[in-house]
Amino acid sequence: MAIGIKDIFSQHFGGEPVVCAFAPGRVNLIGEHTDYNGGYALPCALNLGITGAARLRDDKTLRLYSANFPDGGITEISLSSPLAGGWTDYPVSVIRTFAAMGYSIDRGADIAFSGNLPDGSGLSSSAALEVLTGLLLRELYGFSVTAQELAVFGQLAENRFIGVNCGIMDQFASAMGKSGCAILLDSATLGYSDAPFSEKDAALVIVNSGVKHSLASSAYNDRRRECETALADICKVKKISSLCALSVDEFERYKDSITNPVCRKRARHAVYENDRTKQAAEALRNGDLTTFGSLMRESHMSLKDDYEVSCAELDFLAETAWSFDGIYGARMTGGGFGGCTVNLIKKDRLAAFTGVVKEKYKEEFGIDAQIFAVEISGGACVINE
Ligand code: GLA
Repeated sequence: MAIGIKDIFSQHFGGEPVVCAFAPGRVNLIGEHTDYNGGYALPCALNLGITGAARLRDDKTLRLYSANFPDGGITEISLSSPLAGGWTDYPVSVIRTFAAMGYSIDRGADIAFSGNLPDGSGLSSSAALEVLTGLLLRELYGFSVTAQELAVFGQLAENRFIGVNCGIMDQFASAMGKSGCAILLDSATLGYSDAPFSEKDAALVIVNSGVKHSLASSAYNDRRRECETALADICKVKKISSLCALSVDEFERYKDSITNPVCRKRARHAVYENDRTKQAAEALRNGDLTTFGSLMRESHMSLKDDYEVSCAELDFLAETAWSFDGIYGARMTGGGFGGCTVNLIKKDRLAAFTGVVKEKYKEEFGIDAQIFAVEISGGACVINE
């Protein structure tokens, strides 16, 4: 049995932690690259994630250990030292964000982490780490911070300190996830509602392409800039607050005001994807997985052709899934450029699906695809170890 976080803490720091917590990774069912365009996303929190254990110190030193990077040992830094690069930047950035928001962080801490999300798979290990750090801080200091604020602080940490201009979806799903439900998140207002997922008939399956996505890569920020350019062009003829404030019909009416054809494609993706996401949540609530599945497929095609964030491996995995008997839908999930596909499949076809995908993927790319059926879990929480 895997060693628990409390023991990991004790082995490396001695004594007992004061608090232990868990924050999940997420998979997004549909609504990709909409969360910085004022649109909807439909993520769910996973039963995979990161656990952490922490204790305050009497000085201003932070000592951080991750069981996922054991060779690095304990990283020791002062509360005020600059970011060093590497995984410790995430917790440190969250601590900085709390301080910048006016929370008094006057003592260091010993914190141990251990996660079971595949590294670089696009299942939001960084968002989980951010939300988890926020939760541990809240418990250690007794700060009054809501789960939603933990998500916002995680996003701020990433935007301001890590330098990735990400939206709120990943941190929101990690902080606010609900067991058995996808969350229909309106990124414009942070309003949200549940869309229950019946695991009775369908399995939610993630296939990791093994191609590492690098969210920090400039491509993500480029897409965001292209959307901003498209918005500025449209605003010359129609004042709107965000691209996703447009209906599909309105977009078709105003699209020619976007002068750059690449920016026009990006905007088309955002507007149509937003529309698909609302329809998909409705389909999920009605238990209509067939409709849900076709929307997933349309989403993938749009991410491939209009948003251009897919890659040969993800396309192959999606296409292989689409041609499999028993599949409802499949698409790339997350920021793109590698990472995972998400697949909805009839339960009794799961074993066959796994075999076929593994074999075909290996044959085509020489890579062993990691395939796992996941459960939808609740959001970040304190745990008793
Ligand atoms: C990454 C970002 C999210 C979102 C997705 C794309 O996961 O962190 O905010 O933009 O990409 O949907």
